[in-house]
Amino acid sequence: MALDITQSDAGRQARAIALRLKEREGPLLPILHEIQAAFGHVPAEAIPAVAEVLNLTRAEVHGVVSFYHDFRERPAGAITVRLCRSEACKAMGADRLAAELSERLGTGMGETHPSGRLTLEPVYCLGLCACAPAAQVAGQLLGRATAGAVADAAGAAAGAGAAHGNTGGGESGR
Ligand code: FES
Repeated sequence: MALDITQSDAGRQARAIALRLKEREGPLLPILHEIQAAFGHVPAEAIPAVAEVLNLTRAEVHGVVSFYHDFRERPAGAITVRLCRSEACKAMGADRLAAELSERLGTGMGETHPSGRLTLEPVYCLGLCACAPAAQVAGQLLGRATAGAVADAAGAAAGAGAAHGNTGGGESGR
């Protein structure tokens, strides 16, 4: 039996967002951005809701969500660590940095640590190309990043979040 999306709060809210924005020119991206802003990610229940409102297939909507790196299909960790994987940073060792950092943090690129404490994700230019390789930790930019500096910044951000009672969500990183 097909899932009745109206049974889901996430589906209902996603549908309301889609209905509100559907008259915009090129409405799919603004709708998905607003859904992500509301939930911190694009929940699976949102896909059929948006597809129905915009008269698209679920595959079309899911294709857009999975194509754009800005959209998350799962909730992020308490803090987000982003590493630039674009050309200038690659030329300055971003691949090696990503491998070292993944090992140090115990989190694969594009994944959230099992504890939920952080998400490590790629980003494609942070506007800090002159100081490549670049990273962003809980919203703070780091130039000439090393695995040690990024891990230390992540530890400090996690500590600051704990000190302020931040148990989830963190910065949007968007
Ligand atoms: S290419 Fe990495 S910050 Fe621009």
